[in-house]
Amino acid sequence: MPGFKVAIDGPAGSGKSTISKRIAEQLNLTHIDTGAMYRAITYIALQKHINLDDESSYVFMQDLKVRYEKNRIYVNDMDVTDQIRSDAVTRNVSKVSSFPYVRRILVQIQQEAAQNIDVIMDGRDIGSVVLPDADLKIFLTANVKERAKRRQKEKEVLGIKQELDALENEILERDHKDSTRKESPLVCPPDAIVIDTTHYSIEDTTKRITEEILKKE
Ligand code: C5P
Repeated sequence: MPGFKVAIDGPAGSGKSTISKRIAEQLNLTHIDTGAMYRAITYIALQKHINLDDESSYVFMQDLKVRYEKNRIYVNDMDVTDQIRSDAVTRNVSKVSSFPYVRRILVQIQQEAAQNIDVIMDGRDIGSVVLPDADLKIFLTANVKERAKRRQKEKEVLGIKQELDALENEILERDHKDSTRKESPLVCPPDAIVIDTTHYSIEDTTKRITEEILKKE
């Protein structure tokens, strides 16, 4: 049995991970947050003080095992879930994820992790590259102001205050880098259902996607 596959793509702060996590819990699917994997490699690269601009310095990835399990991200069994949310990681992750070498290794890990299981995977290239035969493809969007507000609230919960303008700029910059890179850029797959979540709550969007999944199963 190949397993039932749901691909969720979209720009930064569109709610992909939160919504995928909820759907996974409700429908008993395995959730894989691929953004967490790119962040984990960025975190390790920063720890190692490698030259982030040089693709050949990412050979260190050969010795790493990256695994996303039950909402936690591990590198060689070390839990780096909290570390990957730092500003330094967020600032550099789009650069790290633009290298074909980095993507090739992570895409292979993601495809292997999705084999033979029912999975909901979120990222930027899931419907286009990682799981092109997914049973359902969703592309989530929301206007940048709304996405910045959501990020601000998430940060507030962690006790971090950040100006809306700064968050908006960070999101716009990351979107631009992610959608203009040469290797598997952020695109909306032609066969995806596009959902603009600007005026919808997490609950509404979760319900909407759940309905689409149940139609397919
Ligand atoms: O999903 P999140 O915003 O945590 O992703 C962090 C970054 O990882 C993105 O801005 C993008 O550069 C990269 N990414 C990617 N491909 C994916 C998932 C994330 O390039 N499938």
